[in-house]
Amino acid sequence: MDQIRVRGGRPLRGTIPISGAKNAALPLMAASLLAGAPVRLTNVPDLADIASMTSLLRQHGVRIDRDASDMTLDAARIDSTTAPYDLVRKMRASVLVLGPLVARFGEAKVSLPGGCAIGNRPVDLHLKGLADLGAEVKIEAGYVEAKAPKSRLRGGRVTFPFVSVGATENLLMAATLAEGETVLVNAAREPEIVDLAKLLTAMGAEIEGAGTDTIHIQGKLELGGADHRVVADRIETGTYAMAAAIAGGDVILADTELVLIDAAAEILRQAGVTIEAVEGGIRVARGKDPVLGVDMMTEPYPGFPTDLQAQFMTLMAVSRGASMITETIFENRFMHVPELSRMGANINVHHASAMVRGVERLKGAQVMATDLRASVSLVLAGLAAEGETVVNRIYHLDRGYEDLVGKLSACGADVARVVADRVAAEE
Ligand code: UD1
Repeated sequence: MDQIRVRGGRPLRGTIPISGAKNAALPLMAASLLAGAPVRLTNVPDLADIASMTSLLRQHGVRIDRDASDMTLDAARIDSTTAPYDLVRKMRASVLVLGPLVARFGEAKVSLPGGCAIGNRPVDLHLKGLADLGAEVKIEAGYVEAKAPKSRLRGGRVTFPFVSVGATENLLMAATLAEGETVLVNAAREPEIVDLAKLLTAMGAEIEGAGTDTIHIQGKLELGGADHRVVADRIETGTYAMAAAIAGGDVILADTELVLIDAAAEILRQAGVTIEAVEGGIRVARGKDPVLGVDMMTEPYPGFPTDLQAQFMTLMAVSRGASMITETIFENRFMHVPELSRMGANINVHHASAMVRGVERLKGAQVMATDLRASVSLVLAGLAAEGETVVNRIYHLDRGYEDLVGKLSACGADVARVVADRVAAEE
């Protein structure tokens, strides 16, 4: 199995191009199911999760052509409204086909995603929301079966008891083809929701309030094709901002915007990192002094994103001072802690909080992680560690970071992907 090897101690200098957002592209691709005409997406990242969504949509009958970062999806003819277990289990976001399928075809059968490394992650809010729009929803043999009476959902009021990005997306898509008005109350406000609403609007949907906690949708009889550019990946942006803060140096993050990572940027500033908007992107710099310890709590957007928590913890592990990091979105999202500790970090976890006491230097080690963001936090730790860090199970990284090794190396990091054969030969 491939590994990533990092030798620490080199500052980052140069420009890192930021890709389109995985978490925006996945719902945008699912939205193509709502129309009988082609949807063209540009700035689509090349990632394993995008390939998983491509396989799933093709299985439904969607014709998908991809040329570099351009993708055209044509759902004129659908063969099946069933999303099978062997495709859904690879990626939880597969559940995003549920809303569009029921909305356009009046029925869908989608496998439940099953277990997940970062806690229990149920889909009850998605199902309850569809029921609020008139669908009959039942669970049979591990599958969600949803049917709209007389083949069309009807608009309604959906109040989410807490904020869910995926449930907001599923219901937003479903409501575009429902009869009458739908109101989503306590909706997620993430930039990925705004991006989805932009595409849907270009397809002919009538949506007001995306990006706020109340979204109004007037249902249409049908939607059409559209062209849309995927928003920049704010988690990739934040990850490389943390990388520059951890390794030191001065980098430009290109093709992205500071507003996408406001909360993280503010915390980085408090820690002593320079972070500012520049033409076409963001500049991040840290000089010789270590960063300061700052407390942080994850929250739904516009708060600090849970998907940057592990990377921030790595930064705090080499800070001068201490930091209390509290995870409020997911249970069991501290899997990187034992691995960081093996590298010499001083971290104590108590329930949903981690007390991180900064150490002067981490030490390279063999590490592995069980989810995407935890894995990248270990690569970042390697940038600041003495000696060599070997990160195993890097297929997680391929799910969400396009050309991670290339982007870091181009800024002077000593990092390489070692293919299985060479690993075997060397060890
Ligand atoms: C999305 C992102 C993920 C990010 C997360 C939170 C994608 C593909 N993934 O995941 O990277 O970490 O937002 O920003 O966009 N919950 C329920 N019932 C539900 C739905 C959610 O209990 O029906 C809970 C979850 O277990 C979690 C919380 O709600 O504790 C938030 O989850 P949610 O916002 O839905 O995350 P995802 O959309 O799965």
